[in-house]
Amino acid sequence: MSSAVTHREADDADRHDLYQRAVQDVESEIDFVTQTWASLRDRPAALLREDFCGTANTTCEWVRRHSSHRGLGVDFDGAVQDWGRVHNITRLDPEARGRVELVTADVTAPPPVTPDIVLAMNFSYYLLMDRADLLRYFRSVHASIAGDGIFFLDAYGGYEAPMVLEEKRDCDGFTYVWEQAAFNPIDSRMHCRIHFEFEDGSRVESAFDYHWRLWTLPEIRELLEEAGFSKVTIYWEGTDEASGEGDGVYRPATVGDADPGWVCYIVAEA
Ligand SMILES: C[S@@+](CC[C@H](N)C(=O)[O-])C[C@H]1O[C@@H](n2cnc3c(N)ncnc32)[C@H](O)[C@@H]1O
Repeated sequence: MSSAVTHREADDADRHDLYQRAVQDVESEIDFVTQTWASLRDRPAALLREDFCGTANTTCEWVRRHSSHRGLGVDFDGAVQDWGRVHNITRLDPEARGRVELVTADVTAPPPVTPDIVLAMNFSYYLLMDRADLLRYFRSVHASIAGDGIFFLDAYGGYEAPMVLEEKRDCDGFTYVWEQAAFNPIDSRMHCRIHFEFEDGSRVESAFDYHWRLWTLPEIRELLEEAGFSKVTIYWEGTDEASGEGDGVYRPATVGDADPGWVCYIVAEA
């Protein structure tokens, strides 16, 4: 059999590339951060720290937006940061490259600088599964952020979130598969996996594997307040009248819809 016949699409797949194309919309994230900062603060933000930065795609989007923006990405996995250096940072203009720094560290022990903005996106802080650990992390963010700084997080939930299920979504040239493999209602811990499938039937099995805790919004809010944040606001997505789907516009809210699955932003002011 020739290698052309045995070659499968999954053999060439780069899981970080597929992840960036399927999972995180960094443009929308930075749009939200920029607009929300401008609505709450009278001065421009300069230094943004992206916690759990992985490939630092969001940090790159921040520095790309303005020549006064500086970005610091923190992740304890140096290998994934190296992928980001090669594939994301090198795509920036040479001048913008000089405004990005990646630090390999635990997010609870960040570098001693004072960011205006800290991001914890992609639900990555759900990886901190005990109350004491999440509180320690939130306290370290509060201790390091500027006096008028803002900490942005995302969160997800809804009545399908604690279910064992698999969802597929067509992307450009592949299918993204989100699997909620296990959920324990006693401690709210879950096991989630991301797989990628290709038209020739090949598959990258368990490209990403997460054991995390499905935190609720009241728990997160209470911990942020306990950590010292003076004001915590939930920004809930509006609904498009025609489609009944989310419209991509997030506004401050105290009442949300009991949807099967929702994603929202949390804005914690220092
Ligand atoms: C859900 S992924 C987010 C990936 C990232 N958004 C990206 O685009 O690549 C979680 C990331 O958090 C990192 N991580 C998990 N716990 C951490 C910790 N305590 N300190 C620093 N990084 C951590 C992992 O190495 C991983 O890159």
